[in-house]
Amino acid sequence: MAEKTGQGLAPTYLIGPGALGLTFAHLMGQHRPVKLLVKPSHPSTFYYCHGQQKSPVAATACLKPCEPITELWLFVKAHQLQAALAQWRPYLALDADIIISHNGMSDLATLKQQLTPQQGLFFMLTQQAAYKTDDKHVVHVSQGDSVIGAVNACAQQSFKAQLKQWQRLIPALTGSDDITHARWQKLLVNLAINPIATWYQLRNGEVAAPCYASDVFALLQEAIAVAKAQGIELSLPQSLDSAYQVMRLTAGNRCSMLQDKLLGRETEIEAMCGFIASSARQLSLSAPINELYYRRITGDTPSHC
Ligand SMILES: NC(=O)c1ccc[n+]([C@@H]2O[C@H](COP(=O)([O-])OP(=O)(O)OC[C@H]3O[C@@H](n4cnc5c(N)ncnc54)[C@H](OP(=O)(O)O)[C@@H]3O)[C@@H](O)[C@H]2O)c1
Repeated sequence: MAEKTGQGLAPTYLIGPGALGLTFAHLMGQHRPVKLLVKPSHPSTFYYCHGQQKSPVAATACLKPCEPITELWLFVKAHQLQAALAQWRPYLALDADIIISHNGMSDLATLKQQLTPQQGLFFMLTQQAAYKTDDKHVVHVSQGDSVIGAVNACAQQSFKAQLKQWQRLIPALTGSDDITHARWQKLLVNLAINPIATWYQLRNGEVAAPCYASDVFALLQEAIAVAKAQGIELSLPQSLDSAYQVMRLTAGNRCSMLQDKLLGRETEIEAMCGFIASSARQLSLSAPINELYYRRITGDTPSHC
């Protein structure tokens, strides 16, 4: 097994060269070799901008790995995850660690089945914030906390040791014993803000206006009922508190879903309202407001209707 950390050792591989991927490539690249797997359509040089400073991203872009991948970080959107893993899975070492980071919910159960018993699957949530000004430049807007947790049994075994290594590379990184619960909490904040902000073209702070309160309430209440049916307990008052706090703290921001919509890019609505709507149907529950926002933002009816 290749050694996984330290100078002159196996590189960390990272996908893809988006806002978050370039930011983490640069942060991790200060401490260990990082290789960025790119598509032929992507540039080969990237720049990291923070405050007044601009420097080349501390990672090497490549179209194919040069060795079996022992550690792969996936910073792609939820709807890109399956395809990205299918593309790069043949290059993974049999004992590779795979770390996924995105907003919304994805089908990790299917991913788990595609890995060997020695491949560890982890998930990281982050409050780091970045955006791209063009295909080469990323602006790291704010440093935020990140939390990582084990998704499969293999990851659980190595989690403590791996966490220590990753804490040397990533600022303000903590470990979670229950990353599924943490993902749901993050999903609820996104559900309270993104669909409403996107449909009505609002900045985050404007979603706190009383006229949107009943929709915020319903989006969260429906999601919490789905979570409960899946054995995950979440508090509606606490979730509302967290969501309104984020609206206040990010009042002037446009959420990523609204930015994607304005730029004509695919949004993450499928992994948010779409996930709640389809899960509710499978559980014989109803989630009419999540369905409504899903239809509004896709301009389509949910595929499960
Ligand atoms: N940006 C933030 O501040 C932030 C903060 C917290 C969480 N998040 C979440 O993190 C996730 C990523 O966000 P982001 O803003 O970084 O998105 P993004 O800018 O769209 O980045 C995704 C990148 O992955 C590339 N990609 C997709 N499939 C690939 C593949 N098979 N091989 C190589 N590259 C591939 C995409 O390239 P193409 O465009 O060519 O497909 C794109 O460059 C999202 O779920 C987002 O909600 C973002």
